Amino acid sequence: MADTSLMEKLTSLCKRRGFIFQSSEIYGGINGFWDYGPLGVELKRNVKDAWWEDNVHRRTDMVGLDCSLIMNPRVWEASGHLGGFSDPMCTCRQCKKHFRADQLEEQIAESEWVQSLPWREWPAPVERPEELQRWSRKKGKRLAPNLALVARTDAVWPGLEDRLRGATVERLDLIRMLASDAKDTYELPCPSCGGDLTSPRQFNLMFKTFVGAMEDSSSVAYLRPETAQGIFANYKNVLDTSRIKLPFGIAQIGKSFRNEINPRNYTFRSREFEQMEIEFFCRPGEAEEWFTYWRDARFKWYVDHGLQSKALHLRDHEGDELAHYAKACADIEYDFPFGTSELEGIANRTDYDLRRHQEFSGKDLTYFDDESKERFLPWVIEPSGGVDRATLAFLCEAYTEDEAPDEKGNPKPRTLMRFHPRLAPVKLAVFPLVKKDGMPEFARRIFDEAVGAGIPAFYDEKGAVGRRYRRQDEAGTPLCVTVDGQTIQDGTVTIRDRDTLKQDRIAADAVATYVRERIS
Ligand code: GAP
Repeated sequence: MADTSLMEKLTSLCKRRGFIFQSSEIYGGINGFWDYGPLGVELKRNVKDAWWEDNVHRRTDMVGLDCSLIMNPRVWEASGHLGGFSDPMCTCRQCKKHFRADQLEEQIAESEWVQSLPWREWPAPVERPEELQRWSRKKGKRLAPNLALVARTDAVWPGLEDRLRGATVERLDLIRMLASDAKDTYELPCPSCGGDLTSPRQFNLMFKTFVGAMEDSSSVAYLRPETAQGIFANYKNVLDTSRIKLPFGIAQIGKSFRNEINPRNYTFRSREFEQMEIEFFCRPGEAEEWFTYWRDARFKWYVDHGLQSKALHLRDHEGDELAHYAKACADIEYDFPFGTSELEGIANRTDYDLRRHQEFSGKDLTYFDDESKERFLPWVIEPSGGVDRATLAFLCEAYTEDEAPDEKGNPKPRTLMRFHPRLAPVKLAVFPLVKKDGMPEFARRIFDEAVGAGIPAFYDEKGAVGRRYRRQDEAGTPLCVTVDGQTIQDGTVTIRDRDTLKQDRIAADAVATYVRERIS
């Protein structure tokens, strides 16, 4: 069940505290594009840094790559994106909005007019169909003006009333009936206005642009819809320059663009987003083993960074769900407040991509194996994650409401972001208890030392100290240091833990070491 109130509270906190803003908000925004504010950019960077450090720096079988966003369009012919990277789309004949045909039922269920229908529990026993007629004259008129029942009540209502009286109906069946006088339409109505939908047609998700001064077919190019193809296109360059041997991986983090028909669920489905992808090349006979290895390693990575394993699911794709080139695929799914959805996919792509690029480029992409003295195309295991999706999952998981004592010791509600310390945007906040008696100067020194030691820190001397703690709890800062009267006498400070609220007293000059130990 979708928890819309949690999502509303989270998006409001993200805006208020500077995690995520709507892109070009002062001009009314642009659907499917998001900006990360001062706290958000640190959180997202920490997600990427943790991924890079764990998958590239801490391994001996991985190298990195950073490819251009626009590539020779032949890349997308070879990869199959030009021919097949599309979603089925239908369009409302009345309001002209577009919808993904394969997500129509979900969008209808979430739409405002469907949610306002007289019956909430489904299947619904219809004892008083007149409630529906009343709905069509009031809420229906406002929310679904193009629905057949609303737009042509006199023609639709008599037949509908007969069918409904005493019946028990499913929600989608009722919705089809409400739209049922429309001829030549997709069977479900428009989620936005109730109008008639066209039959679905394929819509290619790649953003098109032109390279150079001429805007004609010879200059068409595409913004990359995934980072993966840059890796395949460079596989030979990497082999020739790095002397790396099978099995090995190439990792890349970078922007990808998809002209999604219905961007939704905050940053979950955006039109511009970042991916963190690995193409792991191995001997064909070892691919199954490496697939299992990466599937389990990637699942563990999310748990290690704070996602509860009970909210994470590994879902192996069934045979008929697999892409034609994939031998096996598993999704790591997370229980987002809006439903359980994909965080990352791990696929055994066989030698499909290298074979296609070899065919389209005419270049030999085979690998000569010193061990077996054979030449072959390696197989590829691909763990492919979204930076924005991972960041959103960490935000959702971190959001917590509990109670903490105020200055007088009375319990007061508080909101905190329980980020894993490695991901927290700010690691340490430093406060003087009051703005006098040398405390601000002392606190500033601790703050400057922390920043000088490379610890992301924040200094705050405004307002009651309890309020300052709460602001840091909302930002997800794991540790707060307070300089008080005793500090001036003996050089010790209190250091407070965001989650347990426990306060330790430590030497001021031990702060940097203490913080390092806690956040590593
Ligand atoms: N190279 C394989 C590939 O791109 P994908 O399942 O289409 O596979 C991989 O995408 C990951 O990229 C997804 O699991 C998701 O985390 C992220 N992703 C895909 N489309 C996205 C979108 N529209 N907005 C945000 N993240 C997206």
